[in-house]
Amino acid sequence: MKFLHMELECGNRTKKQTVSNISKVVCIMFLIFTVTTALLKINKFKVAIGDLKEPESLPSTSLKKCDIFSGEWVPNPEAPYYTNTTCWAIHEHQNCMKHGRPDSEFMKWRWKPNECELPIFNPFQFLEIMRGKSMALVGDSLARNHMQSMICLLSRVEWPIDVSNTKVFSFKQWKYSNYNFTMANYWTPHLVRAKKVDSNSALFNVYIDEFDETWTTHVKDFDYVIINGGQWFLGPLVFYEKQRVVGCQHCDLDNMTHSNLYYGYRKVYNTTFKSIISLENFKGTIFLRTFSPSHFENGLWNKGGNCMRTKPFRSNETKLEGYDLELHKIQLDEFRIAKKEGIKKGLKFMLLDTTQAMLLRPDGHPNRYGYWPNENMTLYNDCVHWCLPGPIDTWSDFLLEMLKMESVTSISKNMIHS
Ligand SMILES: *[C@@H]1O[C@H](CO)[C@@H](O)[C@H](O)[C@H]1NC(C)=O
Ligand SMILES: *[C@@H]1O[C@H](CO)[C@@H](O)[C@H](O)[C@H]1NC(C)=O
Ligand SMILES: *[C@@H]1O[C@H](CO)[C@@H](O)[C@H](O)[C@H]1NC(C)=O
Ligand SMILES: *[C@@H]1O[C@H](CO)[C@@H](O)[C@H](O)[C@H]1NC(C)=O
Ligand SMILES: *[C@@H]1O[C@H](CO)[C@@H](O)[C@H](O)[C@H]1NC(C)=O
Ligand SMILES: *[C@@H]1O[C@H](CO)[C@@H](O)[C@H](O)[C@H]1NC(C)=O
Repeated sequence: MKFLHMELECGNRTKKQTVSNISKVVCIMFLIFTVTTALLKINKFKVAIGDLKEPESLPSTSLKKCDIFSGEWVPNPEAPYYTNTTCWAIHEHQNCMKHGRPDSEFMKWRWKPNECELPIFNPFQFLEIMRGKSMALVGDSLARNHMQSMICLLSRVEWPIDVSNTKVFSFKQWKYSNYNFTMANYWTPHLVRAKKVDSNSALFNVYIDEFDETWTTHVKDFDYVIINGGQWFLGPLVFYEKQRVVGCQHCDLDNMTHSNLYYGYRKVYNTTFKSIISLENFKGTIFLRTFSPSHFENGLWNKGGNCMRTKPFRSNETKLEGYDLELHKIQLDEFRIAKKEGIKKGLKFMLLDTTQAMLLRPDGHPNRYGYWPNENMTLYNDCVHWCLPGPIDTWSDFLLEMLKMESVTSISKNMIHS
């Protein structure tokens, strides 16, 4: 299960003293998805509950109809809310200040939706809502990036204890004892069953109609499940459906041509949502956290591409296009279909549509400050993950706002029906 340690193998010498060719391939895999820089025309998803009355007891600022995902980054002199000295949960490769990043302005922004305010994450409020509950983050290493951001943001209230029942780095469970809140992370970059073709290859066989039981068998008891996946589908893979090859991406096999990426990706989301909807006794809320764009400039990821900007874009300076646009659109399509199916079983689906906000943050990645420059291997600039503290902290602003709206919605419904 070497692959689970993907990030460690890309440079953390405390865990691994030798770097094999396999590791290099792994590193390539780790960044290959970013072959394109791209971005966005976003389908607006309205978090619209404007027709519901606000119960007076619930503090939420955007109860009027407002698309919280359309907006701009505005300066926030009060940020950041933690540092690498106050929070131990920052992953080595996202600890940009430690590795000498010279600028710090990238930490000092907040997201301002066009038509309302998005409050800064309040850790007390979040833990109060999560009292006695559990949340699973399911997907690639960006899910782990997000979880570590949350641990840091919550650290003003409480530090979690590690209650993982495995030593595997990418399957962590954290418990907030005073709130009886559990947060877990399941690493499944392709979301469905996938297998490396062999240990010397970066190529994956991805079984687009089969559940990945490494996580589907675990999430049924969770109250909230946040799904994400994207970048890995731009890496080398062969899609299988009903055990037969139906497509291929960068697969370099003589008998196969590059084909059917979008078909496979669509099917993967269909299967993923199906796997959750079909869980017996699952009563949770499902969030789809949408595609997080990378920002390579001046070259491809493996040809010296980098991300050296120090300021966010304004929304009129860039747009979603190419792969990013298409993959995001597919996510939204499949989300809508699943949401309709889920409702029949009483399941709630919510769209955490962070794509546009992150598209505007070419300044938020580690770039070359995810590693020490003198490490003894080829290192690529990381324009995929997010520095901590940094713009990914905003995902928790969105999440809390949606949770508050969700509780308002259900309370209002109860009031209407009682
Ligand atoms: C935190 O960042 C500073 C630079 O701002 C660096 O000198 C220090 O080593 C880092 N500390 C930790 C624990 O990462
Ligand atoms: C803690 O929460 C879990 C659900 O996540 C629940 O089953 C359990 O009874 C709770 N324990 C206490 C002491 O409240
Ligand atoms: C393609 O060739 C490889 C070996 O060269 C073989 O294992 C695989 O089954 C072939 N795939 C198809 C679709 O013919
Ligand atoms: C984008 O909008 C800002 C403020 O509205 C304006 O100052 C700037 O010139 C615009 N930039 C482009 C590239 O249109
Ligand atoms: C999956 O796709 C099938 C076939 O198109 C469709 O009938 C079904 O509603 C989809 N299920 C989900 C959960 O998206
Ligand atoms: C780096 O590689 C060189 C040559 O292969 C070797 O002599 C040196 O010890 C290595 N340094 C580290 C820190 O591994």
